[in-house]
Amino acid sequence: MTLDIFPDHTRVNAHNHLEIAGCDVVALAREFGTPLYLFDDAHLHARAQEIHAAFHSRWRNTQILYATKAYYSPYLARILQAAGIGIDITSEGELEIARRVGLSPDQIYLHGNNKTPAEIRAALAFGVTHIVVDHLDELDRLAQIAAELNVAPRVLLRLAPAIDPHTHRYLATGIAESKFGLPLQTGAALHAARRIAQQTRLQFAGLHVHIGSQIFDLAPYRDAVAALTDFAAELRDAVGVETTEFDFGGGWGVSYTGAETSLRADVVAATIIAEFEKSKTVNPTSKILFEPGRALVAASAVALYTVGAIKEIAGVKTYVAVDGGMGDNIRPALYGATYTARVANKMHDAPAMRVAIAGRYCEQGDILIDAVDLPRVHVGDLIAIPCAGAYQIPMASNYNLIPRPAVIAVRAGNARLIRRRETADDLLRCDLDE
Ligand SMILES: Cc1ncc(COP(=O)(O)O)c(C=O)c1O
Repeated sequence: MTLDIFPDHTRVNAHNHLEIAGCDVVALAREFGTPLYLFDDAHLHARAQEIHAAFHSRWRNTQILYATKAYYSPYLARILQAAGIGIDITSEGELEIARRVGLSPDQIYLHGNNKTPAEIRAALAFGVTHIVVDHLDELDRLAQIAAELNVAPRVLLRLAPAIDPHTHRYLATGIAESKFGLPLQTGAALHAARRIAQQTRLQFAGLHVHIGSQIFDLAPYRDAVAALTDFAAELRDAVGVETTEFDFGGGWGVSYTGAETSLRADVVAATIIAEFEKSKTVNPTSKILFEPGRALVAASAVALYTVGAIKEIAGVKTYVAVDGGMGDNIRPALYGATYTARVANKMHDAPAMRVAIAGRYCEQGDILIDAVDLPRVHVGDLIAIPCAGAYQIPMASNYNLIPRPAVIAVRAGNARLIRRRETADDLLRCDLDE
């Protein structure tokens, strides 16, 4: 395995150690402990700017909304803000980060398939102008809260256009049976647009689709553009509303093992915008939006673990047990996500054994990697798993009452703690009956 899927500023140093942004990860593990998540700061800045530029250079009225569910923190929020990237949020927690870093409310779109009244109220009270409506029940709730607060939010309808993105079924969100979005073929989306048009409190702004995640094939995106622009034409004729915003979601595939090629922002931008320009429904002032999550953050981070035990079942399997697992990375257990690994303190050593990397949590399914070829591994070695920046920290849990890991940002030989490791006190802070 090359270092291709590691962050941009990765090399092997003279000690045969993994080095990221000028920091020897063996030294980092000693200083901060493991499990440890480290973000290559310059990589993140570069990706944010690259994505912004790829779309803005092709369509002036573009808004990139980073999908905060992939990973959000005050640290990342400032990087996105500096790059001119807005956010798609689904909770008050994500809103709170945006509030703390002073993000302008017009850069925030509220999503969710079951937004609570409190979340809608908090967003509108903060000044969020755009709400992406997921189903019919939400419309009355939204209109009522908007009236209470005397605001008139701009509404996008999330569509389920029955497009198969050819990905894991848990990651396919635009298919007909998805729990997300208003189906096109049942007439629900048309009905929702009519209801908005009849409301004085809600302004119809546009259409949204997020067909799924880990998509490597561009054809479903072309289909999504056609579905939205065709429906916009139908809405103009049948309901008399103008679609001024077209949001094509995220989902660009990222290579976690080097087996696939990650979708590049400029390729996605060129494909989607070329398709969009073909449509007669759009005009040069139409606003188009994209919501990358994983593509912006996944490859910028590495997870670092210490080997605590090796179990060899002769002729069957060898487990290398590390000090993290499903508590900091649920993805392999949740939907069979695949990863690869390197021994960070033996980078140039030749592979000598095929092992499974087992987590420390009390589930047999807590296996981070089923099979990977590594040099001879010993207790105390460091396992580095690349592509750790998306859907790991935000999905982390305290299962087995184990604290969640520390997170650091590294740049030019310096490491900065951006989230401290949890303590036993953190774990018990909500328990009242001590
Ligand atoms: C509405 C919406 N937009 C964007 C995304 C981002 O997807 P990805 O991280 O695969 O780019 C998601 C992910 O679930 C989503 O639900």
